[in-house]
Amino acid sequence: MRLKNKVAVITGGNSGIGLGIAQEFKKEGAVGTIVGRNQKTLDSSSELLSPNFIGIQTDVTKTEALENIFKRTENEFGKLDILVVNAGGAIGNGTLGSVVNTSEEDYTRMVDLNLKSVFFTVQKALPYLKDGSSIVLIASIATQKAFDGLTVYSAAKAGVRSFARTFSRDLLDRNIRVNVLSPGTIETPLFGKLGLPDEVADQAKEQFADLIPVKRLGQPKDMGRVAVFLASDDSSFLLGEEIVADGGVVNL
Ligand SMILES: NC(=O)c1ccc[n+]([C@@H]2O[C@H](COP(=O)([O-])OP(=O)(O)OC[C@H]3O[C@@H](n4cnc5c(N)ncnc54)[C@H](OP(=O)(O)O)[C@@H]3O)[C@@H](O)[C@H]2O)c1
Repeated sequence: MRLKNKVAVITGGNSGIGLGIAQEFKKEGAVGTIVGRNQKTLDSSSELLSPNFIGIQTDVTKTEALENIFKRTENEFGKLDILVVNAGGAIGNGTLGSVVNTSEEDYTRMVDLNLKSVFFTVQKALPYLKDGSSIVLIASIATQKAFDGLTVYSAAKAGVRSFARTFSRDLLDRNIRVNVLSPGTIETPLFGKLGLPDEVADQAKEQFADLIPVKRLGQPKDMGRVAVFLASDDSSFLLGEEIVADGGVVNL
């Protein structure tokens, strides 16, 4: 058990990649909290992760609400060893768009969720994190490559990738390591949020899989295994690093 009794907070731990990470953390002995907005999936996911994890309902774009997550986690489990900043996404938070057609409102919502909330989640967690802890930020292969319709999202994720470097330097005196996990295309409820009929969504998944050298979509568990590595002492010599876990898309 590589994370035995380690205290973790995972934002977006009630769905998809975040839930996959929480499940792998539980297997490795971690305890702590998952954070999301949807009470229904928070309840069902906490049940799945019981007795190790509890759910806390918070909108991470509301900066003033963030400290409560860490206060409650500390009260329940003690000071934090691990923070996974995963809440985010390109869907349901501004339409996908290019530089030609993205409105100011959609730009702001995309950046508020995928960049600003990451900055303040980390900032508000700092007093509750132990020295020597590990922070894992979830970005995307959109940090590496241009994709249609992901113009603002990609810039926000590139900013997250940059935060891993600058935060690691800012926090050197506390020996807090900050690294990035950048997923490729992962099979999560995100596909359901595209609003496509099931049949069309399945076709889209097949088309995406065909573009991946290993010919399959990633699974949340694949991301969970990498996150365990980044959260654990096995990665103690990694600071400001990005691991791209994408089935070979960027490199092959
Ligand atoms: N799936 C992919 O192919 C892929 C690829 C690259 C990167 N990513 C990144 O991976 C992360 C997780 O995505 P996913 O695919 O697992 O999608 P998902 O299943 O839709 O999960 C998104 C999670 O973020 C939470 N979230 C979103 N907005 C929030 C807010 N304002 N406050 C609190 N929680 C919020 C959601 O909670 P609620 O449902 O409760 O709102 C949910 O738990 C995102 O950062 C995404 O950009 C995904």
